[in-house]
Amino acid sequence: MPDDVLVVHGGTPLHGQIRVRGAKNLVSKAMVAALLGDEPSRLYDVPRIRDVEVVRGLLGVHGVKVTDGEEDGELVLDPANVERASTDEINVHAGSSRIPILFCGPLLHRLGHAFIPDLGGCHIGPRPIDFHIQALREFGAVVDKTPEGMHLTAPAGLHGTKFELPYPSVGATEQVLLTAVLANGVTELRNAAVEPEIIDLICVLQKMGAIITVHTDRVIEIEGVPRLGGYTHRPIPDRIEAASWAAAALATRGEIEVLGAQQVDMMTFLNVFRSIGGEYRVTDGLPARGVEGGIRFWHPGGELRAVALETDVHPGFMTDWQQPLVVALTQARGLSIVHETVYEQRLGYTEALNTMGATIQVYRDCLGGTPCRFGRRNFKHSAVIAGPSKLHAADLVIPDLRAGFSHLIAALAAEGTSRVYGVDLINRGYEDFESKLSALGAHVERP
Ligand code: EPU
Repeated sequence: MPDDVLVVHGGTPLHGQIRVRGAKNLVSKAMVAALLGDEPSRLYDVPRIRDVEVVRGLLGVHGVKVTDGEEDGELVLDPANVERASTDEINVHAGSSRIPILFCGPLLHRLGHAFIPDLGGCHIGPRPIDFHIQALREFGAVVDKTPEGMHLTAPAGLHGTKFELPYPSVGATEQVLLTAVLANGVTELRNAAVEPEIIDLICVLQKMGAIITVHTDRVIEIEGVPRLGGYTHRPIPDRIEAASWAAAALATRGEIEVLGAQQVDMMTFLNVFRSIGGEYRVTDGLPARGVEGGIRFWHPGGELRAVALETDVHPGFMTDWQQPLVVALTQARGLSIVHETVYEQRLGYTEALNTMGATIQVYRDCLGGTPCRFGRRNFKHSAVIAGPSKLHAADLVIPDLRAGFSHLIAALAAEGTSRVYGVDLINRGYEDFESKLSALGAHVERP
């Protein structure tokens, strides 16, 4: 059992207001982008989360000076003295994240060499990097795989290319963007991911001097430029964290106002939230009067309704919204169906919910939607949730970031006292979650 444990006295509705800052899945990439410039960059609203620390450490060993700015959450990234790091130095920082793979293009441009250790990240299936390697080779990189990791060089420099992704992978699209902006010539990427975090990364790169066109039908065209400068950027808010708190409000029959949450990037989530019977109100901010906007989510009383949903790439229902929402679905009357089409093994956490009294069956078939690429293979990637179920307390071990948050919500919704082990993993992506829980009236404590 991990020794970091949170004791959760459940059964109390969460009530109150919290704030989300810059999206984890943009902030970390924008930090990597700073490596491409020849001037300092300034990033605002950076949350204090483990993934940011990982990138900060990796940038540090490569000579990028990262300092805190004047504003809370402001980082200044100075790439004036980029230098080669030793394998040992890189290993110290890279262990717990998948972000290091995105250093390939920028390091090849700046140093002509990159080393990428074995990747960490959440254990949600095999999570291969074949698209990344294929793309880098198309740009002219030479990839040498060794037992310790991958060494990359670019003997003839990197040049633009035409490349079609087999699946609109977020990371591989970012890899292509971060490599193509300084490559010689034009790159055309087909079947690209177009998540809001990617569009925001494109905004960052454009501020630095890149020329990037987003066409319809998932085609992105990048005209390589000889140099990039710095950027000043306030990132889009974290829509995964916002949805997680929304699900917590619903599962505990409470009410949470998520300051900073933005409707435009959460429309698909909001539709599902309303279909289940949750209510929300979007409040626009009034900057001139210092009033911050956000979304207030609440359980209106009565019973929730079952739904069928399918996770998908943007503009579909995000895979990272799935786990917290399933906890709320255990409280809905009827049979809900969740078809997970992004990751093949992202339903394992439902076993823990069953030990708490939920009734969730997982299937290999593509249920309730269109057949996906996991359908004819041996992956349990569809879930049927029968509700409503009375959840009771249990001892839980957190398996990964999003499943971890769903365990936490389940413990908060359940009657009795649960012990949630491995809870520090949640700090990878949720800033100050323990203080936020306390602010919302949750009864939680470290033993
Ligand atoms: N894939 C491959 N080969 C590759 C790359 C991806 O087969 O080379 C497959 C993956 O195995 C997966 C699918 O493509 O089945 C989608 O993966 P993707 O590359 O889009 O995911 P990612 O870039 O590794 C990011 C987020 C995830 C989020 C996904 C999907 C970051 C750091 N991570 O991962 O976020 O779930 O996109 O939106 O941006 C999280 O925040 O907890 C998290 C896991």
